Amino acid sequence: MAPTVQTIALVAVGNLGKYVCEALVVDPRYDVVVITRKKQDWFLQRNIHTEESDYSESSIRAILDARGASTLVSFLQAADKLYLDLHQAWLTACLQSKSCKRFIPSEWAGNVDDYPQLPKFYAESRLPFRRILQETVGIEWTLFNCGWLVDYFLPQHLTRMPAEPDTVPIDANGWRACIRGSGDELQSWTWTKDVAAAVGELLAAPSWESTTYVTGQWGTFNDVVRLLEAHYGRELEKTYKTVEEIMGADDDNLDLWMISGGAACPREKTLSQRDRYFSRINFATLGDLLKRLD
Ligand SMILES: NC(=O)c1ccc[n+]([C@@H]2O[C@H](COP(=O)([O-])OP(=O)(O)OC[C@H]3O[C@@H](n4cnc5c(N)ncnc54)[C@H](OP(=O)(O)O)[C@@H]3O)[C@@H](O)[C@H]2O)c1
Repeated sequence: MAPTVQTIALVAVGNLGKYVCEALVVDPRYDVVVITRKKQDWFLQRNIHTEESDYSESSIRAILDARGASTLVSFLQAADKLYLDLHQAWLTACLQSKSCKRFIPSEWAGNVDDYPQLPKFYAESRLPFRRILQETVGIEWTLFNCGWLVDYFLPQHLTRMPAEPDTVPIDANGWRACIRGSGDELQSWTWTKDVAAAVGELLAAPSWESTTYVTGQWGTFNDVVRLLEAHYGRELEKTYKTVEEIMGADDDNLDLWMISGGAACPREKTLSQRDRYFSRINFATLGDLLKRLD
């Protein structure tokens, strides 16, 4: 008997979502439908089925049921109330849908078990939605996290993730590093294509845990600097932001998250889930990628 093909609905598919979409459309275990506010050439050129939606509960539910989707995966990038409102609507859409009983909300960051309040702006959006999920029955969900996307440490020609030199301490395009704290604080990072492969594996798993972690490598920003400098044979221009400066800052940025350990996926759980779900994936380190891609 031929194995059942699951239909996976991906919503708000932007930079990261497109990597996941690319992996799923070539995976014989899945049919993919992309739900978007406006059809985009990127999907049309690749013959990927897209459905336009105003992102309301009724619109999402109708698409899930019309396509018989089993799972909804969100990559929404939106602040505060919009994040919460849209995820609530999509959760309700899943609950009311006849077919869709699994949901991955848009998390894709760090250690949400031990640092649920960080980054600070997540406390306004993701934290309240996680509480709603915990009280919801009738749907299986997981918060999928990967640490940093290692793509942010690579030069632009090696990734489609747009560079964020003001937010990410490593700027491999401007060849600079703005080290937060001592630079020895623990981080973890994963390649976009490994995140995508891992989502593919998780979607086939018979049951999920409430948090799921993947990580290609644990290390520090000083390690990243050393790896880049050794590979390219030149020193990065370095500046520093002290812990005192970070603690005294009013703006709601990622600095506190990255010096507190929140950006590092919890090692024990990540490794045990690697055995449980992701044993087929050979997660790349930054050193592997520099050698393989450059
Ligand atoms: N761990 C990391 O290092 C890392 C790095 C980057 C991102 N992330 C996380 O990954 C997720 C996706 O990030 P991304 O960079 O791929 O996001 P993105 O491309 O900036 O945006 C994703 C999608 O969100 C939808 N969207 C944006 N603004 C909206 C609005 N006002 N109303 C409704 N929909 C809106 C758009 O979908 P449509 O236009 O199709 O409707 C867009 O394509 C986020 O949770 C982000 O925090 C993590």
